[in-house]
Amino acid sequence: MGSLKIIILGPPGAGKGTQATQIAARYDVPHISTGDIFRKNLREETPLGLEAKTYMDNGLLVPDSLTVGMLKDRISEEDCRHGYLLDGFPRTLAQADALVGLGEQIDAAINLQVDYAPLIERIAGRRVCGNCGSAYHIITAPPKVENVCDNCGTELYQRDDDKAETVEKRLVEYDEKSKPLVAYYENNGLAKHVDASAPIEDVTNQIFSILDKLA
Ligand code: AP5
Repeated sequence: MGSLKIIILGPPGAGKGTQATQIAARYDVPHISTGDIFRKNLREETPLGLEAKTYMDNGLLVPDSLTVGMLKDRISEEDCRHGYLLDGFPRTLAQADALVGLGEQIDAAINLQVDYAPLIERIAGRRVCGNCGSAYHIITAPPKVENVCDNCGTELYQRDDDKAETVEKRLVEYDEKSKPLVAYYENNGLAKHVDASAPIEDVTNQIFSILDKLA
């Protein structure tokens, strides 16, 4: 399987990163998380990371002018020739238009649908791997060894933007700027809705049953 160009949409904490890991492995495509790329730049204190930090710490989207160029560079790399999975991009209508402008033909936009109420709890319990990007939850999806990544053995950490007040701002930002993308991808026939309030494995199975038909 391969050659799929997939987008995964959903509010903060919907499970984009969790599902993206599974999707990337099954369809053999690189998992491109713009959030992870920003966090890596932040850790390395690059100019891009330092500029993005102000926005991320305040729960705001990083401006399109920074994000689109970064994504363009990433998808022009060799490993994206036969498809990719975009996690966290596009996040604005302008970003979606930019993708079209780059001539990218997307096969599906998986939309993770979930009420906002459980998201704060999901995010509060989240621990992530700074090396491979895997996401865990201290109760619903714990690593085999406490605080250590199952995939690469790196120590897990809690994200700075996972404080309750910042999460609330991220949800407002999602509502205003990213939710319109659901209608955008419905209108062009690419939206595939998934019930993301189900347990993690059930969500994965719903996604696989959609993507298996396209692979
Ligand atoms: P980003 O890193 O993309 O964060 P996000 O969209 O806010 O999404 P999250 O990573 O919080 O959640 P997720 O949906 O991946 O959930 P996860 O799988 O981890 O972006 C961060 C910031 O970077 C943005 O705020 C912005 O500033 C900037 N940025 C990034 N891209 C940008 C762009 N394109 N434009 C502008 N700015 C951009 O799951 C969450 C938790 O829930 C985990 O603990 C998991 O184990 C658990 N969980 C998952 N699924 C389930 C389930 N079904 N049941 C129970 N628990 C579950």
